[in-house]
Amino acid sequence: MRRTSFLQFIGIASARLLTVPSTPFEATDGTISLTTITSIIVDSRHSNTTDTTGQTLIPPTLLQFAETFASDLQSSLDQSTVSVIEGTSSAAGSIFLTLDDSTAYLDAAGRHTAEGYSLSVTSSGITIAGASPLGAWWGTRSLIQAAVLGDGTIKTGSATDAPGWATRGVMLDGGRHYYPPEFVIEICSYLSFFKQNTFQLHLSDNLLSAYLNNSEYELGLYAAFRLDSDDEAVAGLNRWKNESYTRSVFDNMQEKCAQRGVTILPEIETPGHSLVITQWKPELALSTDYTMLNISNPDTIPTVKTIWRTFLPWFYSKTVHIGADEYDSKLADDYNSFVREMDSFIQAESGFTKKMRIWGTFPPKDNYTNISTDVSIQHWEFFEDNPLFDYILNNYTVLNSDDAFYIVGKYSASYPQTPNATRIFHGDPSVPGGGPYAPNIFDINNATNNPPRGEPLVLGHLAAQWNDYGPNATTVTEAYYAWRDLLPALADKQWGGDLSQDEYLSIFETLHAAIPGQNLDRSIESCSSTIIKYDFGKAKDGKVPDLSGNGYDGHTDCAIDGAAAAIVLDGTCALHTPLGSKGRNYTLSFTVKPSDTDSATALPPLFTGPDSVLLAGADANVTLLSGGNLFALNYSFPVDTWTEAKLVGQGNQTFLHVREGEGDGQSGTGTEEWVSHEFLTTIGILGQSFVWKGIAVEAPLTKVGGETGGKGFVGLLKGLEVLDEVVGSS
Ligand SMILES: *[C@@H]1O[C@H](CO)[C@@H](O)[C@H](O)[C@H]1NC(C)=O
Ligand SMILES: *[C@@H]1O[C@H](CO)[C@@H](O)[C@H](O)[C@H]1NC(C)=O
Ligand SMILES: *[C@@H]1O[C@H](CO)[C@@H](O)[C@H](O)[C@H]1NC(C)=O
Ligand SMILES: *[C@@H]1O[C@H](CO)[C@@H](O)[C@H](O)[C@H]1NC(C)=O
Ligand SMILES: *[C@@H]1O[C@H](CO)[C@@H](O)[C@H](O)[C@H]1NC(C)=O
Ligand SMILES: *[C@@H]1O[C@H](CO)[C@@H](O)[C@H](O)[C@H]1NC(C)=O
Ligand SMILES: *[C@@H]1O[C@H](CO)[C@@H](O)[C@H](O)[C@H]1NC(C)=O
Ligand SMILES: *[C@@H]1O[C@H](CO)[C@@H](O)[C@H](O)[C@H]1NC(C)=O
Ligand SMILES: *[C@@H]1O[C@H](CO)[C@@H](O)[C@H](O)[C@H]1NC(C)=O
Ligand SMILES: *[C@@H]1O[C@H](CO)[C@@H](O)[C@H](O)[C@H]1NC(C)=O
Ligand SMILES: *[C@@H]1O[C@H](CO)[C@@H](O)[C@H](O)[C@H]1NC(C)=O
Ligand SMILES: *[C@@H]1O[C@H](CO)[C@@H](O)[C@H](O)[C@H]1NC(C)=O
Repeated sequence: MRRTSFLQFIGIASARLLTVPSTPFEATDGTISLTTITSIIVDSRHSNTTDTTGQTLIPPTLLQFAETFASDLQSSLDQSTVSVIEGTSSAAGSIFLTLDDSTAYLDAAGRHTAEGYSLSVTSSGITIAGASPLGAWWGTRSLIQAAVLGDGTIKTGSATDAPGWATRGVMLDGGRHYYPPEFVIEICSYLSFFKQNTFQLHLSDNLLSAYLNNSEYELGLYAAFRLDSDDEAVAGLNRWKNESYTRSVFDNMQEKCAQRGVTILPEIETPGHSLVITQWKPELALSTDYTMLNISNPDTIPTVKTIWRTFLPWFYSKTVHIGADEYDSKLADDYNSFVREMDSFIQAESGFTKKMRIWGTFPPKDNYTNISTDVSIQHWEFFEDNPLFDYILNNYTVLNSDDAFYIVGKYSASYPQTPNATRIFHGDPSVPGGGPYAPNIFDINNATNNPPRGEPLVLGHLAAQWNDYGPNATTVTEAYYAWRDLLPALADKQWGGDLSQDEYLSIFETLHAAIPGQNLDRSIESCSSTIIKYDFGKAKDGKVPDLSGNGYDGHTDCAIDGAAAAIVLDGTCALHTPLGSKGRNYTLSFTVKPSDTDSATALPPLFTGPDSVLLAGADANVTLLSGGNLFALNYSFPVDTWTEAKLVGQGNQTFLHVREGEGDGQSGTGTEEWVSHEFLTTIGILGQSFVWKGIAVEAPLTKVGGETGGKGFVGLLKGLEVLDEVVGSS
């Protein structure tokens, strides 16, 4: 147990690199600047080697990881001249990537792990030796982080590092909220930078309601299945084709994530949380609760097998998840037979390349031997099971997803909206005052329920994020913001790290700004706080010069009203910018004058971007569209009148500040006072109470005006400005 012996060195400042996760490191006297590095030499003896011991069935080669690493050096450190070549030894000015099958790379249970690596830094060059290509990849993350924090320079010395546990990452409820493939891929990049290797994607689920046994009601309730196959066998199962993944899209998601060492672990939930299946085949529902399959119905298990037979070949993970969460406790025996039968089926159907996982719901108390220990169990709550006494002592492997780290999008009566920092940094109850959390800690309050750190049956830890209140409670990126600040701290603990909260806070934002392969903050490079400034009076030949100094010129096929310095939106023409979205915090200012026309579509887009659309028109409530959901104000821009408007993204809220009047649109000339409106959503379970909460929507910047299947916004718009800051209504 290397990590334990390493702990004895803590206190010697040079004994680790301050990275996330922390990296054990023995520094020597010296530094190297990464600007002296001109090549990555991939050991030609291993360039085509892949790691076959991990969870992915599509592991990248050492050479493929090297190529991603080279592009990361550019995006994280502006190091654009690094070439990737093959060779057999290190050389001055290079990073040598090789493999080292040393037995030094041990997990918390003292077993060899392919994810270990060593890092050797001298003043002339760097060598990263992985126990496998994946191990070498994690070594490149340590190197990039150390260089980012050292302003391009790192200390000389050496590290031997390995994760304590093999499964580290997150579970995201993609059943009750759709996440576009690009977003999933960006989250994988986020996880990977902090050495998390697993993204469990919950691919089917439904809303809850107070009317579970009312078939008519339940058959209309929101329920979704996110895989989209043309196979006749599942025709009718997916009724949200625009919010699901085709095979080629899902392939690409899995491949992109695998390229950064992250495995997508798919979950299709049955026999509970299965309304999407009973909506497809109502005869399979329990009459007492339409969200559950009636396992006694002779067609139920064959139907579930048909679904898995269709989708099993899509999955490049050695573990697949059948859900098996929260079923009717009176039917625990049926549940156990279901799990047994699905286990045999999935193993056989996959040619024994895949194993099955279930949530801990009913520990088969009297009859453990009925369920094979090939089935791994994901613990989440002590009211369902005791992971140590029910499973581990009966030889089942357990993945820790205890709800100490459950979060629920936007609102919940039971769970928080962000991970709890106290639990991350002080969640080990066996240490007085609370030691750092680790995957063997199922119970943050009672150490008797936790196996020792070296327990080999603990697979690791995944932090879960649920969408109990459905698709319109949150935007897509709000799922990211919920994890943004603290998930990396938990990643440190999942690996086995011991960063203190102060250490973490001292480096997190600097590291965050350098995470490659994503722009989840939707930030935009800008030479000042003004990102775009368009004065349409200066437009010429369809080009609208950007006066901000950034050169983000616009292009338009619309006419310009020179006297008003305004663009004339005729319902068809549009203004295009080179930008997409601007995330928190921003101000999008413009002055607008809709025309009184009934030929336009009822709610035309005024601003369109990849994450959102601002809709507005004559007598149409100003509305934001995000993630397929509409969030309307009880306000519309008056027709044939100029109104100054500021769409403001301020932290986790979005506002529209308006000032109506006949002024020229410049500050201080409007005739009315500024009035503020906030975009809100209503959240709740139907049949129970609802609460109102703010919604955080990115500024849509790609296009102004244009048509969408009909005539678009008609009117004038001027004074368009985008700021990288919040400017209030003054
Ligand atoms: C690695 O694999 C590629 C493609 O499969 C092949 O072209 C190349 O020759 C291989 N290189 C080595 C060193 O085996
Ligand atoms: C549905 O359940 C409620 C509460 O358990 C019960 O009062 C009602 O009779 C049930 N309705 C049907 C149609 O079974
Ligand atoms: C489940 O299905 C069986 C067999 O079709 C049926 O007898 C039973 O009433 C069903 N149970 C419920 C609660 O729907
Ligand atoms: C335990 O399993 C055996 C064999 O499947 C079965 O006959 C028995 O009824 C089960 N006992 C309980 C308590 O579930
Ligand atoms: C667990 O496995 C060990 C080693 O194979 C065995 O000795 C023990 O009896 C098993 N325990 C149970 C409860 O099956
Ligand atoms: C919004 O952020 C504030 C602090 O920045 C926080 O107190 C509040 O709980 C957040 N609201 C939601 C709905 O997440
Ligand atoms: C965070 O966790 C600690 C320890 O379990 C608990 O005392 C505290 O109430 C939690 N904080 C929040 C905001 O839930
Ligand atoms: C701690 O856990 C043990 C084992 O489950 C249990 O017997 C004991 O009652 C628990 N203690 C408290 C204070 O809950
Ligand atoms: C998918 O289509 C439905 C029905 O037309 C629509 O309500 C929803 O907004 C669409 N979703 C997205 C992400 O565009
Ligand atoms: C605008 O919103 C209000 C409040 O939600 C609603 O009552 C009104 O009907 C809406 N107006 C239009 C034109 O949609
Ligand atoms: C946005 O502003 C909020 C306060 O409204 C602040 O807490 C947050 O850190 C800011 N976010 C960014 C990315 O600047
Ligand atoms: C969100 O969906 C719920 C149904 O789950 C609905 O009652 C509510 O009005 C919706 N909120 C908005 C803002 O559309």
